[in-house]
Amino acid sequence: MNKTLDLETLASLCKRRGFIFQSSELYGGINGFWDYGPLGCELKRNIKDAWWKAVVRTREDVVGLEASIIMHPAIWKASGHADGFADPMVDCKDCRKRFRADQLCEEQGVELIKTEATFALPDGVQCPACGSKNLTPPRSFNLMFKTFVGPVEDETNVAWLRPETAQAIFAQFSNIVATARQKVPFGVAQMGKSFRNEINPRNYTFRSREFEQMELEFFIRPDEAVELICGHVTQLDDKPDLMGPPQASWGWNVWLHYWIEQRLTWYRAIGLPEADLEQYWQVGDELAHYARACVDIEYAFPFGVQELEGIAARADFDLTQHQTHSGKHMDIFDETLKQAAAKLDDPAREAFTRKVVTDWTRQGKSEEDARAFVAKLFDGKYIPHVIEPSAGTDRLALALLSNAYDEETFTDHKGKTDTRTVMRFHPSIAPIKLGVFPLVKNKPELYGKARDIFAQLQRRWNCFWDESGAIGRRYRRMDEAGTPWCVTVDFQTLDDDTVTLRERDNMQQVRLSLSDLVDKLDAEIG
Ligand code: GLY
Repeated sequence: MNKTLDLETLASLCKRRGFIFQSSELYGGINGFWDYGPLGCELKRNIKDAWWKAVVRTREDVVGLEASIIMHPAIWKASGHADGFADPMVDCKDCRKRFRADQLCEEQGVELIKTEATFALPDGVQCPACGSKNLTPPRSFNLMFKTFVGPVEDETNVAWLRPETAQAIFAQFSNIVATARQKVPFGVAQMGKSFRNEINPRNYTFRSREFEQMELEFFIRPDEAVELICGHVTQLDDKPDLMGPPQASWGWNVWLHYWIEQRLTWYRAIGLPEADLEQYWQVGDELAHYARACVDIEYAFPFGVQELEGIAARADFDLTQHQTHSGKHMDIFDETLKQAAAKLDDPAREAFTRKVVTDWTRQGKSEEDARAFVAKLFDGKYIPHVIEPSAGTDRLALALLSNAYDEETFTDHKGKTDTRTVMRFHPSIAPIKLGVFPLVKNKPELYGKARDIFAQLQRRWNCFWDESGAIGRRYRRMDEAGTPWCVTVDFQTLDDDTVTLRERDNMQQVRLSLSDLVDKLDAEIG
C-alpha cells in the first residue's frame, strides 16, 4: 500500500480519470451506491474474469451458477437472514441522525453491551454528529432490501433483494448435482450483485448498499465419511501439501487451509503485496452460529486493515436448513463410501458408531442424531459439508486502486525534476493494457500503419488510441489510467516493422519488432 495515501486523494483520481463516480451525482447522489466509469468497469471486469478463471475454468472440480437476484422468500427464512440478518441501530433524538451502535462504540473506545436478545449502549456514548448523549437504545435493523413481487403490495407478495449470492447455490444444489457430473468434493461458484441496506455506508466504496460478490461453496465429505473411506483423516499436524493436488483423506480443517492458501496465492498473483495481506481468525461470538471456523483475509486499506474476503467452514448448516424448510432431502449418494462401509464387519461398524456417538455427544449433539447419521453413512449417504470463500469484488477493486496509486518525483532526460501520478496495476487487471500512438498524425502513411497496428493489437487486448498532444503528455495520461505499456509508431516502423515500447513503471523505452511485442505482452499479462 502507498502508506501516505488518503481516501480523498484516491477518490479524486478515480473521479477525474473515470474509475468511480458517485451514483446519481446529477441529482445530488444517493448514499451507499457507486458507479464504475469507463476505466473502473474494465478493472472490475478484469477482476471478475481473473477470479472466474482461477476458481472455475482452470479447475475440474468447480462449476458455475448464475441465479436470479430475487428468489423465493422462503430461502431467506431457511438461511436465517429473514430473522437474524440485522445490525443494532441507534438514533440521535436531537439531530435525528442514525448510526450503527457497534461502530459508534468502537469509535468511542467502549464495548457495546450484548445480552441474549438485545443490545444496550454503555454510559457516555454520544452522537458523533452533534455531541448529544440523547440517543435511543439500540434496535435491530434487518439489512435486507424489501420489495413486492407483482402489483399488490401486501405481506404475501414480499420479496427481498439477495444479501448474498451464496444461498442460491444451496437452493440449486440438487439440480447441480443431478446435471454437473461432479462428485464430492466439488464446488459451485457464483458472482453477482448483492444488496444490504447498511445503516451507515462508509469508507468510499468499501461498505456500499449495492455491491458484487464472488463466492464459492466447496462441498466436502464429512470427516466421518473420510474416515470410513480412507481409514484416517488427514489433519494439519500431518503437514499436508496445501499447494499440491487435494487428497481424499483431507479433513475439513485441511480443506479450509487449502482454500486460504489458494486465495492468498491469487491475491498475490493479481498484485496485492504479501505484506499488506493479513489473516484474522474469528473467535468466540464473532463466529456465526453455523461456522466451525472463519478467517478474514484482510488488506491494509488507507482507512485501516479491513476484510477483503471471509473463508468459513460452515459444516452442513445451510443444506440442512434447506432440507428442513423445503422438506426435500439434500443427501448425496457416495458410491465410494457405500463400498467402503460394506467392507466393515459388525464389530467394526459398532466400534465406528460408538466413536461417532462419543464425538457428537461431546459436542452437545444427541446420540439419536449421531446414530441416524452413521446409519446413513453406512448406506453411502450424507449431507455434504462446505467451505465458503466469499470475496467482495468492489472491496478488491478498492484495494487494487489503493495499492496501485503512486506519486513519483523523477528527473527527466533533460535533467529537470518532474512528478507524475501513476497507477501501478498488475498487467492482468490493468483496465487498458496498451496505449497505441502515432508519432505524428499528419503523415498518412505513418498514421495508417499505426491504425493497422492498433486494430491488430485490439483483437487481443484492450488498447487505447491516442493521437493528440505531445508524446510525453500521452504517456502521463496512460500512467494515470494504469496502462502498463505504450507503443509509438514512427517513421522507422514503416521501414522495419519495429515500434517503441515504453514501460509505465520505469519509463524506459525499447525498440522491438511487432511479433516480439506480442510475445512479451502475452507472457506478462498471462
Ligand atoms: N456468504 C457470506 C457473505 O455474504 O458474507
